[in-house]
Amino acid sequence: MSVPDPQGAVAPEALEAAVSGVVSQVLGRPIARGANFLEARENTYDSVRVYMQLRKRLNLDVRLVDVFIHPTVASLAHYLKTVQPRPKVNEEQLSGFAYLEVNQLFRALVRRSDIPLKPSYVWGATQAAYLATMLRYPRISFLEFGVAGGRGLLALQRIAELLSEELHLGIEVYGFDTGRGLPKPQDWRDVPQQWWEGEFPMDVRKLERQLRGAKLVLGLIQDTLPVFMARGPAPVAFVSIDVDLYSSAHDALNLLEAKASLLLPRVHFYFDDIMGLTVSDINGERLAIHEFNESHELRKLGFIYGLRHWAPVEHREDMWTDQFFLAHILDHPKYGEYDGLIRIDDLNI
Ligand SMILES: C[S@@+](CC[C@H](N)C(=O)[O-])C[C@H]1O[C@@H](n2cnc3c(N)ncnc32)[C@H](O)[C@@H]1O
Repeated sequence: MSVPDPQGAVAPEALEAAVSGVVSQVLGRPIARGANFLEARENTYDSVRVYMQLRKRLNLDVRLVDVFIHPTVASLAHYLKTVQPRPKVNEEQLSGFAYLEVNQLFRALVRRSDIPLKPSYVWGATQAAYLATMLRYPRISFLEFGVAGGRGLLALQRIAELLSEELHLGIEVYGFDTGRGLPKPQDWRDVPQQWWEGEFPMDVRKLERQLRGAKLVLGLIQDTLPVFMARGPAPVAFVSIDVDLYSSAHDALNLLEAKASLLLPRVHFYFDDIMGLTVSDINGERLAIHEFNESHELRKLGFIYGLRHWAPVEHREDMWTDQFFLAHILDHPKYGEYDGLIRIDDLNI
């Protein structure tokens, strides 16, 4: 192991030997500089051990995702030449969890974007992409149900572009909408005192001119979703439900009946219309969630409790921290794989 320089970081020319030393020690044997050490790992937590050791012994602000993105000694050492020493952070209490790292990614996206990004979408999409990276998915999808003028979809498109660059991940973005505003509310479950037919229409041509990678799926969700899923998009990782009506949310949640290969084992869900006003457990999107859970044994939507304690400090009072659910795909073959969310500082190495 090389001696750190006066600032506490290892000199660039000594990095490869240092990384090789860390990886070999964790694996308990030498490894070739071009070999994929994630494939060689005997234990799921070896990647976390490599990460912890790089942070502690090299004093670099490396992230756990970096170990997944650069899984050879040579590529990791090359990447580490661009990484800064560890800063002092005011969220250090989160350091045993991935939340600190995800919050740093969150801020990097907001800083880099040329358009306003919905913080709720940044958080959900970043968590989803992080999970995909941990589980070694090369490509994922983000879906928005309810597009209207397209502000949310354009934000999601930009978020996907930035996350793709940050995490070296392919991300497809799809927006579902009638193109003509809300369908007619059917009964009291659709909260007709609040929503009406044709509300939130879309200027399709204007929006399409601004789409680079994102795609519109136009028509009623009950008609378009089955055809869309049959075509086999990249596995779905993040979903925003912003369709207002119970009946539309019910149709969108049919997504979760897809075969496991089309879904991540846990899918991040943001629900836009579950707070305040006259919505509650007995109507609107919350009723659709409740009924979905009642009628499915191995697919469940679970509320993420206390999210504001993990969110970036500047967003802890935001309402969206009360609007996230995780879809648990309990029969997914990858359900039990380590997700990188919890890491123990003292891993006994
Ligand atoms: C509140 S707006 C969406 C706003 C948008 N997410 C944003 O960030 O600006 C709700 C949209 O959901 C769409 N919608 C509702 N039910 C639908 C259904 N069953 N099929 C397709 N689109 C639907 C409507 O066309 C409407 O444009």
